[in-house]
Amino acid sequence: MPQCTVDLLATNHSLSDHELLDLLSTSDTETISYLHRRGREVALSVFGNKVYLRGLIEVSNFCRNDCYYCGIRRSNREVSRYRLSHEDVMLCCAEGYALGLRTFVLQGGEDPRQNIDWLIDLVTEMRQTYPDCAITLSLGEKTPEEYRRLKAAGANRYLLRHETFDAGHYGELHPEGMSRDYRIECLRTLKEIGFQTGTGIMVGSPGQTLEHIIKDLRFIQDLQPEMIGLGPFIPHHATPFADRRAGTVDLTLRLIAICRLMLPHALIPATTALASLPGQGRLGGILAGANVVMPNLSPSSFRKDYSLYDNKAAFGSESAQGIRMLQEQFATIGYEVSMERGDHPDIEV
Ligand code: 5AD
Repeated sequence: MPQCTVDLLATNHSLSDHELLDLLSTSDTETISYLHRRGREVALSVFGNKVYLRGLIEVSNFCRNDCYYCGIRRSNREVSRYRLSHEDVMLCCAEGYALGLRTFVLQGGEDPRQNIDWLIDLVTEMRQTYPDCAITLSLGEKTPEEYRRLKAAGANRYLLRHETFDAGHYGELHPEGMSRDYRIECLRTLKEIGFQTGTGIMVGSPGQTLEHIIKDLRFIQDLQPEMIGLGPFIPHHATPFADRRAGTVDLTLRLIAICRLMLPHALIPATTALASLPGQGRLGGILAGANVVMPNLSPSSFRKDYSLYDNKAAFGSESAQGIRMLQEQFATIGYEVSMERGDHPDIEV
């Protein structure tokens, strides 16, 4: 399997389906490490040896949806449910700000009680209190009007993974009533409104084939998202997918590198799911071209309850309180953490 395929991808930011399939399936270790190297080199040339930090605040584990893979799905009666109050979130931000963080990511299930008016109040106060910070939302599907109001209130970025572009596969991961088409429409709306928009997939989700992944890559090329989230699927014991195999670190890292070569300017996190599997974790992600990490800023008493999958890493260097540890880990591979806002380089702020 020729390394020149990797060079071709680096030069053209695209490959044929056949070449992508080769890269995703080759067992030639030299090609794989060359792919990581080129991914890393492109990230270094665009962003330098900096890894941007985002403070992740998990605002609620209530969810109206019932996705088969997710530990906080509506049907899971084992979850101890919590929702942060407005004041709780502001306290998390204050702690994050004091630690030096300049991006806050509000992530949560689709909780009907944290409705649009509640969110607008929160974003408005965050914007007033922290004019120098970026506000990222990861709160699922909303109406175009709701997205517009959130943007107007001061939110800058929105993360919404499409999970899989293939409609049949989408139907295997989600119950009836959830629509692949609406999800894609949401992403187009977010871009149109001017959010820095993130999408992405779970790698190795049940039923996923390499052909599905190629469709995901084509969608990503077409959407040109500012952020791309790629993490391995990890089973959660109290979901219909409890007994399914986890995705692999290997395929996740290949996809990070491929996405880096396709969209050199994208912000690509080394995700918590990646860090939760045995292996090089976050460092491996950075060495394949990722340039963001999202340490956990949620109140520590609730962190265990925000379990999308089993054995989630949420303490130590995964936590905002462990930034020092993170700095030391990154130093061992020649990287520094950056506390800047870290907007997408092509966007005017
Ligand atoms: N394993 C890995 N990732 C998961 N997510 C949800 N459930 C799991 C799981 N079991 C991911 C989804 C979602 C993001 C917030 O977390 O991709 O978009």
